[in-house]
Amino acid sequence: MSFGIGSAFRITVFGESHGQCIGAVVEGCPAGLELGAADIQRELDRRRPGRGTASPRSEGDAVTVESGITDGRTNGGPVMMMIRNEDTDSSWYAKNRNVPRPSHADYTAYVKYGGFNDWRGGGFFSGRITAGMVMGGAVAKKLLLRSGVRAVAHLIQAGGVKAASSPDEGLEARAAGSPVWCADARASKLMVKAIDEARAEGDSIGGAVECRVFGLPAGIGEPVFDSVESVLSHAVFSIPAAKGIEFGGGFALSSRRGSEANDEFALDGGRIVTLTNNSGGLLGGITNGMPLILRVAFKPTPSIAKEQRSVDLSRMAETTIRVGGRHDPCVAVRAVPVVEAVVSASLADMLKNAHLIGKYLDRS
Ligand SMILES: Cc1cc2nc3c(=O)[nH]c(=O)nc-3n(C[C@H](O)[C@H](O)[C@H](O)COP(=O)(O)O)c2cc1C
Repeated sequence: MSFGIGSAFRITVFGESHGQCIGAVVEGCPAGLELGAADIQRELDRRRPGRGTASPRSEGDAVTVESGITDGRTNGGPVMMMIRNEDTDSSWYAKNRNVPRPSHADYTAYVKYGGFNDWRGGGFFSGRITAGMVMGGAVAKKLLLRSGVRAVAHLIQAGGVKAASSPDEGLEARAAGSPVWCADARASKLMVKAIDEARAEGDSIGGAVECRVFGLPAGIGEPVFDSVESVLSHAVFSIPAAKGIEFGGGFALSSRRGSEANDEFALDGGRIVTLTNNSGGLLGGITNGMPLILRVAFKPTPSIAKEQRSVDLSRMAETTIRVGGRHDPCVAVRAVPVVEAVVSASLADMLKNAHLIGKYLDRS
């Protein structure tokens, strides 16, 4: 059982969708990192509901940092952060608590916790738990920037709409300019349309997020079981609704020839580079100094207004359900900053384990 991830830099998340609060504890952040609530808030605001694809739950999500900071810098102790749940409405869940939503975690949570699970809004299985991931990731992102490492995620697919591939240059700014974090302006508009259509039909759509990490040195990663792919996959599959992951050329490589897929080596000003990056910056589970590239597939939001079949667990009788409450029609959009967060947290852990980040930072 674990609500935490990482060893040298460890994030633990807590809270339930309709409980008092959602938050994160970060252990192992070096002392001396300039950090304030504004750094965390900036990232949380990127995850808030309603971006481009209005979800009716509107919460301020104002973060408070409860410990771990002295004189505006981390002090070496656990950094504890949280937001209060203010706009909760559990009435639909109270009426339907015995009928698990198809493809949500209601049924498995009921079985695992003997019916004592928090049935309100999915409890800690709700997408809202990802706010804690983003809080922890915000600390990691700030820390990584000190080492020149930056993770940038963007939406590359929503339903049937795929974005054209985007150059590294200006990727972050183009994604930030889109209501759905899509760096391809044309696809961005089509994605918003597809999401609006799904919502109007009481339905939902899946999507995919790409994350590129710039500035990683070559040589990070611990083969064989702690390869960079293994560690990042562990983190990424902690995100609810994540269903697939690929690195670099991923599944498409399975239909290529070696002569098409191999990344040839070259020199760039004395630095070893590869001429293509089908390996996604990883060879043998170790970074090779090229940008790390991964893509995550997200399933459609399980809670939909269309009628579906389920079982009333109190009567053990088949029934139907139309999910009420407030839901995003495409969770992949809001997962964009979450992917960035968990990738950053895992990389901060790897860099600290490799002693490239110490117990405290210099004063510069
Ligand atoms: C940012 C984010 C927001 C989410 N919002 C919702 C939502 O509004 N409604 C819903 O049914 N599922 C939502 N989910 C997905 C569910 O939490 C998830 O499908 C469920 O916990 C079952 O887990 P699994 O899909 O990983 O098996 C969201 C996921 C993420 C990452």
